[in-house]
Amino acid sequence: MSKPIYVINGPNLNLLGHREPEIYGHETLGDVERTCADLARHHQLELRFFQSNAEHELIDWIQEAREAAAGIIINPAAYSHTSIAILDALRACSFPVLEVHVSNIHQREPFRHHSHMSARADGVIVGCGTQGYELAVLRMARLLSAGR
Ligand code: DQA
Repeated sequence: MSKPIYVINGPNLNLLGHREPEIYGHETLGDVERTCADLARHHQLELRFFQSNAEHELIDWIQEAREAAAGIIINPAAYSHTSIAILDALRACSFPVLEVHVSNIHQREPFRHHSHMSARADGVIVGCGTQGYELAVLRMARLLSAGR
């Protein structure tokens, strides 16, 4: 059995679909999980979904993924803009890392324009709504089938 892909979500993403729907849309994280799990299955991939509002939990899951996962899809939410600790945890991983932002962070407030994670990410998907997670699953399938 091949290793799963960890899909790790940061603070406030538990409120997806309810919080600022004009920015983040109406789909919940549960909807995203179901759609992505189906898509992943078509590509012989298994996903494990995580969400936490606590920085240390996100780091613990990234460290767990180093052994347990084949890759990480991560939306670190507001920690993208602040957390060197999450960047360091991702840098300790040798498999593909894809970063997702539901909104186009470059069209928003200046403090959202820079993500520390992008220095490590193998790909960054921004501004595609919750479909960004599906695009990340497709990209992950391609990277893994190419042996990277
Ligand atoms: C976000 C963008 C971040 O700036 C914000 O803090 C979030 C969500 C996105 O998915 O668009 O919580 O990562």
